[in-house]
Amino acid sequence: MVGCPPAPTTDEIAPLNLPAQPELTPSHLDAIAHGLRQQGWVIIPGFLPKVRWWPLLERARTISDYVPAGIGRGDNYRGDVRVRSDRVHWLESEHPADVEWLALMEELRQAINRRLFLGLFEFEAHYACYPPGSCYKRHVDAFRGQGNRVLSVVFYLNPSWQPADGGELVLYTGEDPGGLWLMPHGGTLAVFLSEDFDHEVLPAVRTRYSIAGWFRVNATTGEILDPPS
Ligand code: OGA
Ligand code: MN
Repeated sequence: MVGCPPAPTTDEIAPLNLPAQPELTPSHLDAIAHGLRQQGWVIIPGFLPKVRWWPLLERARTISDYVPAGIGRGDNYRGDVRVRSDRVHWLESEHPADVEWLALMEELRQAINRRLFLGLFEFEAHYACYPPGSCYKRHVDAFRGQGNRVLSVVFYLNPSWQPADGGELVLYTGEDPGGLWLMPHGGTLAVFLSEDFDHEVLPAVRTRYSIAGWFRVNATTGEILDPPS
């Protein structure tokens, strides 16, 4: 199994004096609401400035207990490296970088619910590390009527990514059979309806870091508690 070595150090330095509170800009919120309403997906380059996402990259690089990613939930959970070979670590409420991202996504959840009435109830997210050569084959994040994942969000943490580095997200939006190819540039956010869009991650030549997350509706019934992911 290929591990997730820390990425090579760069001469870029994490700036100090980070803003205390996360905040989303109204223009980003407008763009996200508009994109979801019109087409069900949206890409926001520069969703956060580098000063804000650099600590998330530092966190992603220093996680020592990534685990091989699995497919499915609950009893159906299984690992299949032919389908996906990334390694993941679920965000935790104790780590400051994770808390920052979870707080930002909570703001986004509330803002989307106010604008689009999607009834988003909770959020789950993991860091993903794709060692060179690893991929995630074409898939959907939720099956209609089965899951409760409504909205997928992927945030990229890769400085100075070049086209030759590969690792694109291919989002099958229906406009072009070849899909929309997105480079996993640090600071870019991709948001799409979980049931509606097949997508895949192409192999990269560099270690590729991201945070993948899902807003869910509440699938708890009187008898059955919403299963853990
Ligand atoms: C996923 C996923 C896309 C990406 O984790 O389900 O599709 O670009 N990630 O990392
Ligand atoms: Mn996916």
